[in-house]
Amino acid sequence: MNCCHRTRSSLGENCWCKFLRLGCLWLLLAPAVFGDFQGSTHLVELETDALKYSKEASTGPMAQLIRKIESGTVRLEWHAKWGWLPAFQKALGVDPSSQTLVFSKTSLQREHIHPGNPRAIFFSDDVYLGYIPGSPLVEVSEVDPRLGAVFYAVEQKPTEKPVIQRIDNCLECHASSRTMGVPGHLFRSVETDRQGIMDLSTGIEPVDHRTPLSDRWGGWYVTGTHGAAQHRGNRMGDDFVQAKTTPALGGNKTRLDEYFDPSKYPSAGSDIAALMVLGHQVHLHNFITRVHYMAVQHLAAYGHVDYLKSPVEGLVKQLFMAEEVSLEDPVRGNPEFVRVFEKVGPRDHTGRSLRQLDLQTRLFKYPCSFLIHSEAFRRLPDPLKQKIYRRMAEVLSGADASEAFRRWSADDRVAVREILTETLVDLPPDWKSLTRPSR
Ligand code: HEC
Repeated sequence: MNCCHRTRSSLGENCWCKFLRLGCLWLLLAPAVFGDFQGSTHLVELETDALKYSKEASTGPMAQLIRKIESGTVRLEWHAKWGWLPAFQKALGVDPSSQTLVFSKTSLQREHIHPGNPRAIFFSDDVYLGYIPGSPLVEVSEVDPRLGAVFYAVEQKPTEKPVIQRIDNCLECHASSRTMGVPGHLFRSVETDRQGIMDLSTGIEPVDHRTPLSDRWGGWYVTGTHGAAQHRGNRMGDDFVQAKTTPALGGNKTRLDEYFDPSKYPSAGSDIAALMVLGHQVHLHNFITRVHYMAVQHLAAYGHVDYLKSPVEGLVKQLFMAEEVSLEDPVRGNPEFVRVFEKVGPRDHTGRSLRQLDLQTRLFKYPCSFLIHSEAFRRLPDPLKQKIYRRMAEVLSGADASEAFRRWSADDRVAVREILTETLVDLPPDWKSLTRPSR
């Protein structure tokens, strides 16, 4: 049976569905925790007249690269140690310093993942790469502005051209209440035994900027320092019991050699700052996709998006980091990750950018997500985007008196307003007057 979705861009004829049969039992057993839409994170309709996930070609960075490989304009080189990984990192602009490592057996190629052989995840603003030493596939997810997450497997074989396939069956796990009901990305915190098998009795936490540090990163390795604050990374088996009396257990690690051989990976650690950005980004990507699907459906059904007040409110809160949990102590990770992440623009005329990291009391220096400059946000249907901009203006002008934004300082409002005014090209013409402080 041909169970995999094949596209014209497919470079190979293999079917990897056997991996998908491994099942998503953990997904079924775990309780739904996202409350952003009052619990309504039901799966959106993926095949409508307005948008057909399985039929529509992706325009994301991986889809574009595949077209270039097929036409011969790009040639990728096989690497003797890491196979196709370095070539895809380079071609997709995914820096090795974004490396994070997960050892829980929570994903597709679970038989290859364990604490001695964790899965590495690398990411840019719109592509994620999954690599496990010795496994037959590099996994790729990309953000398509219309479809949301789109998934591919690259066969780890030294062929003339890489064998790549778009696989929609990945949605078995990647489209559920865990991804806000849309084709999306996953980042969770779980407790595991010493083999990396998840303990289903202890609960699963989504990991994003709203998650207290003490609940983050179970099942993941974490390198970097974080003072007296604690997290669940670098713990397995009875570590979780011991941590009750030794709370610092697993914390403030700068090396991981005691767990596995780091030379199997292109980077040395599983960087704490990269993990923080990854969690925020995964959540925002899913949120933007969810709102996009809803807007497309509402425009098709009613010709307007006036009923989407609560999703707009939710997205503005997430973009403005309204529910972010403050850091107890400063966080310090790999300076290379920070350097690479911060060097990309856009900047205002004084050099300020939304990619500047704070890591003292919060993730970003200015409390607005850099993903407002992403292609996914830019391509939200215009009537919806205009509503988002108007709601943002109320917050930035100080006219909004709601609890969610109360902790913003006047300086935060001014800085975000000025940066956005100079770096967003499609703001409403009256944006400047709308965002002027209302007193
Ligand atoms: C059994 C459930 C499951 C299936 C099936 C699955 N994944 Fe995932 N995937 C996960 C989980 C859980 C994570 C979060 C990281 C982790 O726990 O390893 C994840 C994370 C990822 C990531 C990192 C960023 C993101 O998008 O979340 C990529 C890339 C990825 N998966 C690719 C794929 C591809 C490609 C397929 C299909 C060929 C696939 N996955 C199928 C569970 C699954």
